[in-house]
Amino acid sequence: MRIEGLERNSEHYWTAVRELFRLRPGLIAMNAANLCPSSAPVTQTLFDRTNDIDADPSHENRAKYAERKEYTRQLLAEMLGASSDEIAITRNTSESNRAVIGGIDLKPGDEVLIWDQNHESNNVAWEVWSQRLGFSLKRVSTPDTPQSREQLLKPFVDAMTPTTRIVSFSQVSNVSSVALPAKQLCESIRARGALSLCDGAQTFGLEVQNLQDLGCDFYTGSAHKWLCGPRETGVLYVRSEAQSGLWPPMVTHDWEKASTQGARKFDNLGQRDDGRLEALGTAVQLYNFLGGDLIEARVRSHVAKLMAGLQSVSRKIHFLSPEATELRGGFVIFLYKGRNARETLETLYNEYGISAAAADLGDQTWVRLAPHIYNSGRDIDITIKAVKHLVS
Ligand SMILES: Cc1ncc(COP(=O)(O)O)c(C=O)c1O
Repeated sequence: MRIEGLERNSEHYWTAVRELFRLRPGLIAMNAANLCPSSAPVTQTLFDRTNDIDADPSHENRAKYAERKEYTRQLLAEMLGASSDEIAITRNTSESNRAVIGGIDLKPGDEVLIWDQNHESNNVAWEVWSQRLGFSLKRVSTPDTPQSREQLLKPFVDAMTPTTRIVSFSQVSNVSSVALPAKQLCESIRARGALSLCDGAQTFGLEVQNLQDLGCDFYTGSAHKWLCGPRETGVLYVRSEAQSGLWPPMVTHDWEKASTQGARKFDNLGQRDDGRLEALGTAVQLYNFLGGDLIEARVRSHVAKLMAGLQSVSRKIHFLSPEATELRGGFVIFLYKGRNARETLETLYNEYGISAAAADLGDQTWVRLAPHIYNSGRDIDITIKAVKHLVS
């Protein structure tokens, strides 16, 4: 890799990082919260292993992939501060959320708390399962412009009752970029004897995690977002003590073995794409090589620069993403008063080559800019200038 020997965090370093991605020239990809490109090492592993299996799909040739899957599991466990026995490898956050939502025994009289800023794979899935099983569902709202962690924690604490069985929340909301005080929240949930499902789609691969310390019972994530891993790979963490209370999403061959091996029983999903699971391990290796701390710091610095730049453009620009860093995830959500967000997105893409996304909260659509390590400082400047042209 050209990156070796370069001074960490220098512009040369980040240029070399950018070269690990095959983004087309001229594109400013700022849609990391939705889908990231996989890095070249990841696609190389995927390509090589796909060819290997296509050349020889025998049991004999494929036997080696069992060990490689375990290695990927171990890498994920180390990355997340968990044990290998607590990690299941899924296809994405939606599937991981569903494994929890459909896997715990709930009945009429039980209550589930959800945050109204969760993704559909969380909230809509809970609605469907509550219709099926008859438990009640309570939505928790937090202030639109939170000023402190306490303001975010209090609505959850106030909403919990003795019948609350599980609280399901996004560590960072995809629609507002609000970061909940997840550790304190998990502490109060546990103190009430309930379980916690922490949806980490917007933190996995971006924010350094230690799930043991975070204290959640379940954590979910997609590798095709911030980790820049292969598409259709994800993670489900199930704390050891919570495993016996969770039914598996699927039971198929090898069940007897899987059922005695911790969280492996939650990824006993039949034939898998072995090369893809190994490529997921490659994504974690690259994450380790670059350093989780550095990745997070780089994204946060892009976000801070973007927010400050957009703030200086016009007072008509409003932000949904909180001002305070500790309350904010890795992206900016804004709106120019009087301008349609979807038209802004089209213009940004068609005229400036900037790919952003829409974020819908209530009846309002906002513009979401989610830069990553493949963006340069220049990309940020161009984006600020583009918004300036657009509103002037
Ligand atoms: C917070 C959150 N949860 C879950 C998902 C679903 O992710 P996936 O489509 O990869 O399953 C997303 C996607 O954006 C998300 O932001």
